[in-house]
Amino acid sequence: MKPTSSPPKTPRTYRVKSFGCQMNVYDGERMAELLGERGIAPAPEGEEADLVILNTCHIREKAAEKVYSDIGRLVKAGNKAGKSPLIAVAGCVAQAEGEEIMARAPAVSIVVGPQAYHRLPEMLDKAAKGERATDTDMPAIAKFDALPARKKRGPSAFLTVQEGCDKFCTYCVVPYTRGAEISRPFSHLIAEAQKLIEAGAKEITLLGQNVNAWVGEDDKGHRAGLAGLIHALARIDGLERIRYTTSHPNDMDEALIAAHGEVAKLMPYLHLPVQSGSDRVLKAMNRQHTAESYLRLLEKFRAARPDIALSGDFIVGFPGETEAEFEDTLRMVDEVRYAHAFSFKYSPRPGTPAATMEGQIAPAVMDERLQRLQARIAHHQFAFNQASIGQTCSVLVERTGKLPGQWLGKSPWLQSVWFEGDHAIGDLVEVELAEAGPNSVMGIIERSS
Ligand code: SAH
Ligand code: SF4
Ligand code: F3S
Repeated sequence: MKPTSSPPKTPRTYRVKSFGCQMNVYDGERMAELLGERGIAPAPEGEEADLVILNTCHIREKAAEKVYSDIGRLVKAGNKAGKSPLIAVAGCVAQAEGEEIMARAPAVSIVVGPQAYHRLPEMLDKAAKGERATDTDMPAIAKFDALPARKKRGPSAFLTVQEGCDKFCTYCVVPYTRGAEISRPFSHLIAEAQKLIEAGAKEITLLGQNVNAWVGEDDKGHRAGLAGLIHALARIDGLERIRYTTSHPNDMDEALIAAHGEVAKLMPYLHLPVQSGSDRVLKAMNRQHTAESYLRLLEKFRAARPDIALSGDFIVGFPGETEAEFEDTLRMVDEVRYAHAFSFKYSPRPGTPAATMEGQIAPAVMDERLQRLQARIAHHQFAFNQASIGQTCSVLVERTGKLPGQWLGKSPWLQSVWFEGDHAIGDLVEVELAEAGPNSVMGIIERSS
């Protein structure tokens, strides 16, 4: 579908729609800050924006297809209103399929990759002249230096410390869409963390496609890994909680494991994807670890921090996966007793080795396996919530609940906790966990600080 009116030359309002991982959420916030600098304001709730940025994800087929249906919807709404928005496609689909988007979707004015969005202002200038602009360069770390200072957000903030991936799991597009692994410098991260805290953040989640591959030089010029960065962040007053995601089993070091026992501000939670419980499948996936080595690693975390909540990612129906191999995955879930986990049907991605492997699994088989896996995961998540009942813990208040006087926040173990009382967003409240649900826990207030 084609727009029946031309987009505004100088947009006054914007909306950023981020899909996919938390890294995209972070990038979306930074793009919003960049537009704010240019005097473009967020579109009021319920109003059409002059500029819409679709910050896209390419990880699975459905995620990528969404872009085209979203563009279609925007054009339709614009035609109906007699006012077409300026449409920009950012994120991983922009990186992977930029040219195709430009060819297939004439309504799109800007295509900008995840490493190039600091150049959005120049691209908007081009669009103002009626030209279309594409930028999918990967100038490593340049974007962070070119972005404006952090603005006020909620009490829990994201901070991208590492980007890219060198692992090349055979099913995955990330090494192609985000490029090679790079780490942002220590001093920049400390400075950005300080800005986030000044803006009201109590909790910072360090982000990276392989966040535990972060390396840098600390303020004394010593080589530091993620554990060193976490120790330094923990020394900043006003920061109460530190989290990190996502890690790769092969980048774990002893210092990071030990940090879970040493740093009180580091929350007892670890998201460590494994994808499969079968060594043959793991090998075909090029994960470069075994089920056994993964389980041994988790034991070390449990030794350092006995109450640590564990989380993972799983793929069902990888090419060639047999019923027995799938059952190895179920066994792993039962052995680890995850507090939380994500599971996906394998999605063949263009250009990845697995897409052309023999033994692609029928959709009905994948559906059935996914259901069985999700039932096991749900069972353990509920059991984790039930086992936490009776404990008192801190909850960071993040938003209001459905009813007046209700609040929602996160426990140290990342459970959603709701409770009643006289509080404010950003409070750290001592809560007794009273009643477990499958996806959340009801709490009772003890005292607040
Ligand atoms: N770097 C992280 C996460 C990358 S993407 C890691 O390796 O852990 C997040 C999750 O999406 C992956 O952990 C995997 O479970 C899933 N995923 C990636 N590619 C996929 C594909 N082609 N089909 C289905 N799920 C996929
Ligand atoms: Fe993808 Fe594997 Fe890299 Fe994770 S480690 S981003 S799954 S290639
Ligand atoms: Fe998706 Fe890109 Fe993140 S593909 S999961 S948005 S790194």
